[in-house]
Amino acid sequence: MERLGSDAEWSLPASAYRDPVRFEAERKQIFETNWLLFSWSERMAKPGDFVAGTLAGHNIFAIRGDDGQVRAFHNVCRHRAAELVKGETGSCGKVIVCPYHSWSYKRDGRLNKAVNFGNDTQFDPDAWGLYALDCEEWRGLVFVRVRRGGPSLVEWLGPVVDLAAPFPLEKQHYFTKKERVVDVDWKTYGENYLECYHCRAMHPGLCSTLDIDRYAIDVHHEHKFFHLHAPGRSADDTQGFYLYRFPFLMLNLYDWGSSIATVEPLGPGRLKHINWYFFEDISPEKAEANQKSADWSAQIITEDLEVITTVQKNLNAGIYTQGALSKEQEYSVIAFDRMCEEALHDPQPAHRIAAE
Ligand code: FES
Ligand SMILES: [Fe+2]
Repeated sequence: MERLGSDAEWSLPASAYRDPVRFEAERKQIFETNWLLFSWSERMAKPGDFVAGTLAGHNIFAIRGDDGQVRAFHNVCRHRAAELVKGETGSCGKVIVCPYHSWSYKRDGRLNKAVNFGNDTQFDPDAWGLYALDCEEWRGLVFVRVRRGGPSLVEWLGPVVDLAAPFPLEKQHYFTKKERVVDVDWKTYGENYLECYHCRAMHPGLCSTLDIDRYAIDVHHEHKFFHLHAPGRSADDTQGFYLYRFPFLMLNLYDWGSSIATVEPLGPGRLKHINWYFFEDISPEKAEANQKSADWSAQIITEDLEVITTVQKNLNAGIYTQGALSKEQEYSVIAFDRMCEEALHDPQPAHRIAAE
């Protein structure tokens, strides 16, 4: 067996990236318990506007109420479990009406009417309201937490709040998105994002713009947060300013606009990569320049996804079992893996066992 010094660090075992039992534990103990990015606020501008989708494997929707507050609910009727709203976005009208037997719910989730149910049963509108999730807005972005209770969104974001403060997120508007489903585990993706050991080999476009020798990654272990940054090569070049909040919130903040990204884990070794682009000026005259910036950013992700799809294929195949991680170049990967293990409450993280 390969040997490393006793203080060496190892990657997680390959099985961690393909094991359905582990994935289910991650879903329960990591995805359901953290705030996850779900939408941007402009998509729900008016009361009754909703956005529907999947979060941590749950069918959910968020809706703006008459009081202006955005709330999130499981997309399931309390009567016999039909899906309530259809499509990615829309407006429910005055009330949310179930398509199955027409029970209706107010925009704040309380039961409005169990129509024609009969007079012998009375429903308490609060007790028969929709199953709620935690939901908060921050600077034009909507976050949802499946398992209710815990730190507020701002507390959870921690240092992100101050670091992102100089960037005018509220003034920026949605321009375009790019979504891709790939055979890559969410951890394989996170590990790739969190090191720049591969940048010279993999990202010629990024390296021609950023001063890659000065690329730095600050790890805030207690806040489960990473700050990755590099200056531009010249005064004309954009700087790189990337914030990653575990498990997978990515705020890529440039002087030209924002590339806001997250992943939706679809199963062990499979995810949807979701990337939204926001600019201050989205007038038709700026469309070409905006698209160019979005393409430049998307190209970096394409380069990453290409190589990590081959990584995942090999993790699945069974020959490779575990690799060595550089403390100099991959300390942030080591930190990320540790966050994963701690979240699963593993008393003896696998990578430490292998290093003995
Ligand atoms: S399932 Fe919704 S009204 Fe029956
Ligand atoms: Fe990369």
